[in-house]
Amino acid sequence: MSAKNAPSLKSIDELTPREARAEHEALGREIAEHDRRYYEEDAPTISDAEYDALRKRYEALEGLFPELKTPESLTQKVGAKVSEKFAKIRHRVPMLSLANGFADEEVEEFVERIRRFLQWKANAPLVFTAEPKIDGLSLSIRYEKGKLVTAATRGDGTEGEDVTANARTVDDIPHVLKGSNIPDVFEVRGEVYLSHKDFAAINERQEAAGRPLFANPRNAAAGSLRQLDPKITASRPLCFFAYAWGEVSEMPANTQHGMMDALKHFGFKVNPLTRRCSSVAEMLEHYHAIETDRANLGYDIDGVVYKVDDLNLQQRLGFVSRSPRWALAHKFPAQKAVTVLEGIEINVGRTGSLNPIARLRPVTVGGVVVSNATLHNEDYIKGIGGNGEKIRNGVDIRIGDTVIINRAGDVIPKVLDVVLEKRPADAKPYEFPTHCPACGSHAVREVNPRTGKEDAVRRCTGGLICPAQARERLKHFVSRNAFDIEGMGEQRIDEFYEEGLVRRPQDIFTLAERNARGLKRLENREGWGETSVRNLFAAIEARRSIALNRFIFALGIPHIGETSARLLARHFHTFEALRETAKAASDPASEAHADLTFIGGIGPVVAEAIIEFFKEEHNEEMLDALLAQVNVEPMEASATANSPVAGKTVVFTGSLEQMTREEAKAMAERLGAKVAGSVSKKTDIVVAGPGAGSKLAKAAELGVQVMDEDGWFALVGRNGS
Ligand code: IVH
Repeated sequence: MSAKNAPSLKSIDELTPREARAEHEALGREIAEHDRRYYEEDAPTISDAEYDALRKRYEALEGLFPELKTPESLTQKVGAKVSEKFAKIRHRVPMLSLANGFADEEVEEFVERIRRFLQWKANAPLVFTAEPKIDGLSLSIRYEKGKLVTAATRGDGTEGEDVTANARTVDDIPHVLKGSNIPDVFEVRGEVYLSHKDFAAINERQEAAGRPLFANPRNAAAGSLRQLDPKITASRPLCFFAYAWGEVSEMPANTQHGMMDALKHFGFKVNPLTRRCSSVAEMLEHYHAIETDRANLGYDIDGVVYKVDDLNLQQRLGFVSRSPRWALAHKFPAQKAVTVLEGIEINVGRTGSLNPIARLRPVTVGGVVVSNATLHNEDYIKGIGGNGEKIRNGVDIRIGDTVIINRAGDVIPKVLDVVLEKRPADAKPYEFPTHCPACGSHAVREVNPRTGKEDAVRRCTGGLICPAQARERLKHFVSRNAFDIEGMGEQRIDEFYEEGLVRRPQDIFTLAERNARGLKRLENREGWGETSVRNLFAAIEARRSIALNRFIFALGIPHIGETSARLLARHFHTFEALRETAKAASDPASEAHADLTFIGGIGPVVAEAIIEFFKEEHNEEMLDALLAQVNVEPMEASATANSPVAGKTVVFTGSLEQMTREEAKAMAERLGAKVAGSVSKKTDIVVAGPGAGSKLAKAAELGVQVMDEDGWFALVGRNGS
């Protein structure tokens, strides 16, 4: 509900017929747009409650003005959107994503990276599996004693939606596992997808029923699996390929291909194009063979996935961020299209960045209508991107230009190039604003003190006075992977912000109390009712207690994404510990500074951003006020609680012979240990290889436990698990 289309504040019986018709029309367009986002993009931008409010108003208009109920009315078409009130299921083993590559060289680099990590020679044999990357949605199905007990979507990777009843209607998903030696607990993961043929049939039925069409098989599969009524799911012939697993009580095999054989034996379909490859050349050969055959498969794929075959090696390689080091998705090239750049808009981001967005004449790329694309930054538009991407040297992008855009999978579409021959004679170079379009403050490009280079991003200097930044921060705060407050969509934040009801994160948690005392109560406003207000306040109450990693992420500290937030949570365990260290770390010579910068995965830029954030007095005030309202749960060390090194501080020194330094650090961190660079009173264990010097001496002096690599493996086990 954008501000301009928000329901008028007039109650319906005060409207003149002409006003009613105008509002009915505008609302109809808006609802149709939300249907499109839901059906075509599988990316709704408003909550169910907001959508329902729009529809209710639309229907109420027809109730009082029956002449509006024409055959074109949305009420005459069978219900569009399904609501999505599924229970949540926590994944015991997170559902991760895959690192992507496009070029053949990236496959070579992937394999080299693995060899380097393992410190293997270039010719040491290394086997991979290669299989199609199915363009559907992933599902995790849990079997206990061979019986299907739950099925959950990926969700945010940690928590998904409970779609058990729907999964049971999918033919390819066995209710009871077949064969022998079935593990007590077996979580099977794979992809739910629709064949081209079934997709076409579903859309035919949609059309006949006057319902919106799905843009592509993936959206149709998602829409079909996430149906509240399993009967509808049953009527849609979904398919399933198994390719991975979550929790498994006894592993039936010790290789990837062995696991695929086991999955087949238990009654699953596995992709018949899965091959074992023992060189980059073989991997690429299989990739190109699959690419050539792509159109004949009968279902959508968007690349090839390579996985290290040996599961022991997979264990050793572990994860970077949220993707395994042992796998790569080699994507097919992005699809391109030509269209016209009709305008350039500047969005102000959460950290004040002025982000240029291309407004395009709508064009279909790979089954999806694209009307916006990113233009990256000022230099990109000027065609002079120094360190980043650019289209062609010196070629700038102008409004009115015919442009080539691309879209790859879930990636935001990009403007790739300009067709210069079609440039209108009067097209002028674009002048990037030097002031923030939201608050009018100066927008500047900072010079990085370390590199002396000008930042590619121009930022608003308005800070807290900039309403765009404040709003974006609030939107980030309530977003799905942060506080995840249902009913607090982007539009609602805009609305509350404009009215001054919610300006800072802490205001969200005092809203109910202020509403109870207030004059202009939410319940009495147009578009709201007792129920929607009650639901909103219940959703807020439900988030008064929040996981530490979500809380850190929600703060919107520049450069702190979900991954860094999780690393910080795992390292510090409590918010207080993080806050104390971050404050003490403003002294670069302090131990706190060393502690912060040594956390695996936290680079100097991130550390600096954290220090800066906690230095700001207004952030401190916000935190105090917020912490008075919410309880931040300490990060339980559950996954690692049984590990003998959980919570301990470990230092590796000397040359390690059985693992690389990087591998050792990753393993220790996976087991819940902190890895430090120097020995101090806080050190619990020093693992010393040959040639260890001063650190070993220091350990002896402080009486710290010292062991060699064998001692380490004896303590933690070979796979670090
Ligand atoms: S393996 C730990 N294999 O791609 C990695 N994923 O970008 C587990 N996908 O969420 C995933 N085909 O939905 C794997 N053959 C395949 C796949 C595949 C499709 C999807 C999956 C995953 C996404 C990651």
